[in-house]
Amino acid sequence: MTINKHILVGVSGGIAAYKSAELVRLLRKQGAEVRVVMTEAATQFVRPLTFQALSGHSVQFELLNAEAENAMSHISLARWADVFVIAPASANTIAKCSHGLADDLLSTLYLAVDCPVYIAPAMNQAMWHKAVTQENIAKLKAHGVIIIGPEQGDQACGDTGFGRMSEPVAICERILAKPVEQCLQGLRVLISAGPTREPLDPVRYITNRSSGKMGYALANAAVQAGAKVTLVSGPVTLVVPAAIDAYQVETAAQMFETVMAKASDCDIYIGAAAVADYTPITVQAQKIKKQAQQSTIILQKTQDILATVAKLDKRPFTVGFAAETNNLESYALHKLHEKNLDMIAANWVGREQGGFDSNENALQVFWQTGQKTLEMMNKTQLAEQFILLCAERFNEKNTT
Ligand code: C5P
Repeated sequence: MTINKHILVGVSGGIAAYKSAELVRLLRKQGAEVRVVMTEAATQFVRPLTFQALSGHSVQFELLNAEAENAMSHISLARWADVFVIAPASANTIAKCSHGLADDLLSTLYLAVDCPVYIAPAMNQAMWHKAVTQENIAKLKAHGVIIIGPEQGDQACGDTGFGRMSEPVAICERILAKPVEQCLQGLRVLISAGPTREPLDPVRYITNRSSGKMGYALANAAVQAGAKVTLVSGPVTLVVPAAIDAYQVETAAQMFETVMAKASDCDIYIGAAAVADYTPITVQAQKIKKQAQQSTIILQKTQDILATVAKLDKRPFTVGFAAETNNLESYALHKLHEKNLDMIAANWVGREQGGFDSNENALQVFWQTGQKTLEMMNKTQLAEQFILLCAERFNEKNTT
């Protein structure tokens, strides 16, 4: 494979820095031009000369170095990069990037680049799990940074857990993967996400376990793919990236109204929300009091948003989700045909791995003439793969 990419590799301080030497070698083997910047701490683990020999360029690690700035200023270096990958990214470097600090060359470059940024964290498992690190990671993700790993396993410090940097070959594959960046260029994508809340009285409601993570990951991936994204979201605790036009709703009826108002103006609709199938027939004006031993709530069916979108005269390419606890394939195929969808993504719920509220998922995707399995992976990666698949099927439908 010949690729034509300028890849800027940022190496921060950690024992995993030695693995980045292999990353640079692999990237160059694939035909990429690579330049390396290091933090001062990184130079304590691996000498700059190693990266100079592997990249074929001198390595920069000082922000205020007149000689280096003369050769290629940090702004020129930022402009030169098609991709910026920080590997390993220490907790400190992640914190600096997420707060916009620029007190060394690497963090300054993070602020100065205008290209996709990949971050491969590496640190002790306790540092990785610390709430502030997770908040920093969530913030970077919300700003469009793609986080690779970290992986689980034995650590240099003797601990076992999440924090090992992903293997160089996996990072390399990820960076050079078929870009989602252009696949939905110019298209308008409408996504519904999260649960709905169906009120019983002023203080109680019926809901489900959906966290919205899959729908939000799809919205982020669609933005990266170049789409103009509208998100209709039930109540979740996730941050909406600035690039997305978002509408917050609570009930299935509100989600129906909001989606239907937008659906004819979009090219693709992805119904990833876990919409309540039933809602209480009446909402009590006052709090229901504890009285009889048993109490009955009468529910009525909600309107099926997905099926209604699929029936529109000016219908978008319509994609549904099917969360199932049994008979995954037959239920998914039934929904595909019954609701007249272009595609359906089925996933198991109620199992140990994947499904609601998990950071990982696997999908079995069906369309009228084929199917594809997307294996268990984190929801960010899965969303990218799924968006690529949507783009392929959308293009096929619109060119035949
Ligand atoms: O039929 P079922 O509810 O299992 O189908 C799931 C799919 O239908 C999901 O894509 C979900 O977003 C959508 N759905 C909907 N409106 C409903 C119920 C489900 O759009 N009232």
